[in-house]
Amino acid sequence: MTLHLVAQAHTTESPSSADPLSPPAAASLGGVAHSGRLTALVKAVSTVCSGVVSIELCPAAAGETFPAFEAGAHIDLHLQSGMVRSYSLHNAPGEHNRYAIGVLNDNASRGGSRWIHEHLRAGDHIPISSPRNLFALNEQQPAHSVFVAGGIGVTPILSMLRRLVQLGRGAHVILCARSRSSAPFLDELVHLTSRGISLHTHFDDEAGGAPCLRSLLAAHQPRDHFYCCGPSPMLTNFESTCAELGFANVHVERFKADQPVSPKTALTGHCTVELRKSGMTMEIPKNKPALQAFLDAGVDIEFSCEEGVCGACETRILEGEAEHRDSVLSGAQKAAQKSMMVCVSRCRSDRMVLDL
Ligand code: FES
Repeated sequence: MTLHLVAQAHTTESPSSADPLSPPAAASLGGVAHSGRLTALVKAVSTVCSGVVSIELCPAAAGETFPAFEAGAHIDLHLQSGMVRSYSLHNAPGEHNRYAIGVLNDNASRGGSRWIHEHLRAGDHIPISSPRNLFALNEQQPAHSVFVAGGIGVTPILSMLRRLVQLGRGAHVILCARSRSSAPFLDELVHLTSRGISLHTHFDDEAGGAPCLRSLLAAHQPRDHFYCCGPSPMLTNFESTCAELGFANVHVERFKADQPVSPKTALTGHCTVELRKSGMTMEIPKNKPALQAFLDAGVDIEFSCEEGVCGACETRILEGEAEHRDSVLSGAQKAAQKSMMVCVSRCRSDRMVLDL
């Protein structure tokens, strides 16, 4: 989906709650650690359900492979229109010869998904980023996994389910959609039920309304891990329901900021910023987002959502402090002041040194 991404795994007790620069969380610095852009060949575009296509990408050069990815990861597509959009991978980790994404032609989108539906075809070449993962699957514990997928939010969950099948573990998934005909990848989920995955479906038109997450989740155990990806109201409902039920192991992927950061509120404060790798120092004026200032200065920096949700622009802080305004970093990570999302976050100190 477009994290469609925007995406963030927020967990109350997730691996990302540790030091963001520690090895387990290094993937959250994907925009920094994996800044290389790849060229992909569109191998196939197929209709999944009403308004959704699945796009299969493979390396453009024969004999090459893609970088490995973890379940829950997403990639950025650099569209010819100049837009950069992020989409979750729905294929199984371990497949190095292809990435598969699902794209909803969302009328409320900013145009990226529509462009893909109208213009991207098999045989096209398209620049993409290496995978980043803000929605990590907990593979370390034997605890049961419970997933709630809302519409196109099923895409990262599908990859997670495939991974659990690889590991020989079971899981329970609740798929919610407005109707059966608009439920993406329903056939694939049904297929996974023969591999240890239990499936509950909720279709608003058949049920006469939205799902009651409390009744759907109440029977599960507090030690289980709970994952959700879907529209913002569902995520908010999911988080509050898990809190009421006393579930601590809660993971969500957010594709849009809860409260979109408007251009005015996204402005940095006036600040002197040294970009250590680039060897330049600049004043960030009050009326300019830091990301834009860096791009104008010719700095090579990855970015995608520009809303503080995808993690693409995450930049290591070497000196100074940021006023964090993103939805990517956990509270502990923000307090650690080790990195910041320069698309939305402000300078807190008068001077900052960044690893750019
Ligand atoms: S561009 Fe997505 S978090 Fe900054």
